Amino acid sequence: MFAVPLGDGAELRPLEPWQAEEFLAHMDRGREFVGQHVGLPDVVGDLDSARRWLQSYADRAAADTGRLYGIWLDGLLVGGVLFRVFEAGMGTCEAGCWLEPAAAGRGLVTRAARVIIDWAIKERGMHRVEWQVSSKNTPSINVARRLGMSRDGVQRENSLHRGVRQDTEIWSVLAPEWRSARSTP
Ligand SMILES: CC(C)(COP(=O)(O)OP(=O)(O)OC[C@H]1O[C@@H](n2cnc3c(N)ncnc32)[C@H](O)[C@@H]1OP(=O)(O)O)[C@@H](O)C(=O)NCCC(=O)NCCS
Repeated sequence: MFAVPLGDGAELRPLEPWQAEEFLAHMDRGREFVGQHVGLPDVVGDLDSARRWLQSYADRAAADTGRLYGIWLDGLLVGGVLFRVFEAGMGTCEAGCWLEPAAAGRGLVTRAARVIIDWAIKERGMHRVEWQVSSKNTPSINVARRLGMSRDGVQRENSLHRGVRQDTEIWSVLAPEWRSARSTP
């Protein structure tokens, strides 16, 4: 399988339905941590639901409306990055991420997100890449900052997570900003 090296023994690869068992084992290791702010662990509870979720992204990739990539560290699936929304005609997309706790604090998601955003902007002509994050999710907000994103604003109490209303911050980077940050030595 093709892979993009992320350094320090980490690789970014496609994450597909045939890997459902590996994905479920990873989600079981990260369930509490990942579920603090996002609903992914709640929709991936067993092998069938893991396969269904991966298939939904395989379908989106085939339709060019979404993408999903896993992050492997020393051969173990430890997280992922994705385009939850990918609107090629409009030139807009929304990226997201998660990690199991043992893989946090190494810059893996920042590096992986750079790879997919670079692809979206430079190869696919995206103009705006968005990052939606709970206002309480400081680690993810820090990722958005490290990616050079700006905070557009807040959708107040727009999201319900495990029975609790959350504010969602919208962060984004535009193609000219991305290119100029990358061309600076
Ligand atoms: C959001 C999430 C992926 C962030 O994880 P993270 O490990 O903090 O992010 P990164 O992989 O980019 O690593 C950055 C950390 O590694 C450190 N780091 C080490 N080497 C680094 C490098 N080469 N490059 C960048 N950061 C590096 C950074 O200093 C930072 O640590 P700090 O926050 O203590 O300063 C993680 O908290 C998570 O999975 N949360 C649960 C799911 C979730 O909320 N997803 C986001 C939904 S919007």
